[in-house]
Amino acid sequence: MKILVATDKPFAPVAVEGIRKVISEAGYELVLLEKYTSQQQFVDAVADVHAIIVRSDLVTPEVLNAAKNLKIVVRAGAGYDNIDLKAATEKGVVVMNTPGQNSNAVAELAFGMMIMAARGMYDGKTGTELKGKRIGIHAYGNVGRCVATIAKGFGMTIYAYDRYVSAEAMKAEGVIPTGNVEELYKNSDYLSLHIPATSETKKSINYELCKLLPKGATLVNTARGEVIDEEGLLKLLNERTDLKYVTDIAPEMVEEYKKLGSRFFATPKKMGAQTEEANINAGIAAAHQIVKFFKNGDTTFQVNK
Ligand code: 3PG
Repeated sequence: MKILVATDKPFAPVAVEGIRKVISEAGYELVLLEKYTSQQQFVDAVADVHAIIVRSDLVTPEVLNAAKNLKIVVRAGAGYDNIDLKAATEKGVVVMNTPGQNSNAVAELAFGMMIMAARGMYDGKTGTELKGKRIGIHAYGNVGRCVATIAKGFGMTIYAYDRYVSAEAMKAEGVIPTGNVEELYKNSDYLSLHIPATSETKKSINYELCKLLPKGATLVNTARGEVIDEEGLLKLLNERTDLKYVTDIAPEMVEEYKKLGSRFFATPKKMGAQTEEANINAGIAAAHQIVKFFKNGDTTFQVNK
C-alpha cells in the first residue's frame, strides 16, 4: 500500500517522521512530495498511490483521474474546500479531514495578530490592550472554541454567532450568543472569522456587514480569503479610517490593501496552522485515519458520506 504525502507547504520534519512511523508500522510505504512547483508534479506523483495526505493542496479532477488505485484522501486540517468532493465521490474515493487537530495553532495566531494590531503593528507608539474589549467569534467550531478559551484568559467579553451551535452550548462555555450575524458585528471590537469557504459563505464578509463594526474595530481573518468581498472591504477600510484588517491569507488585491499602511497586515503565507504541534497533530491523525480505514474500514471522519 502506497501513501503519498503531497504538501506544497511541507509539514515540520518532526511531523513527517511521525507520519512515516505510523505508516511503516502498518506495513505501508510512504512517498513524499514536498514544495512541488507545478500541479503537474502532483498529478504525476499519484499514478500508483492508494492514499493521499494533503494540506491546502488542490485535489482536482485531474489528480483524481490520474490516481487509478486511489481509495482515500485525507486533508490534514479542517477546511476541505481544496478538494473536489464531487469528483472524489463520483470516483468512490473517501475524503476525510482531521477536525480540531490544528485549531489551537490557528487560534493563537489570531491573538498574535490582534495584539499586533492593538499595539499599532509594534510601531513604538502607545497602543491598547485586549483586556476588557469585546471579541466576536464568527462560527463557533473547533477554532472558534479555542479562540474563546484564550479570550477568557485575556479578560475579554466574548460573543459568538453560529447558526449550527445552540445558544445553550455557547452560554455553558461563558460565551454570549448573538441571535444574528449583524448583532455579532455590532458588538465586536475584534471580529475573528472562523467560517469555512462554501458557496454560501464566499464573499459574505462584505461592506454592509463590516460597516456594522464599532469604532476602532479590527477584523481578523484566519479562515479563508474567499469569504471576504475584497472590493467591498477595501472600500469600507478607505472610508472608515478607524478600522483595521489583519489576516494570514493575503488578499488578491494585496497591493491595494497595503496602501492602508499600518491598518492592514497579512502574513507572507497562510500560516495559522504552521506550528510543529499542529503539523504533528494533524499529520499523524491523518496517517492513523488512513491505517484505520484500510485495516478496519473506519470512516469516522469522512466528509463525503
Ligand atoms: C485548515 O483548514 O486546517 C487550515 O486552514 C490550515 O491549512 P494549512 O494546512 O494549509 O496550513
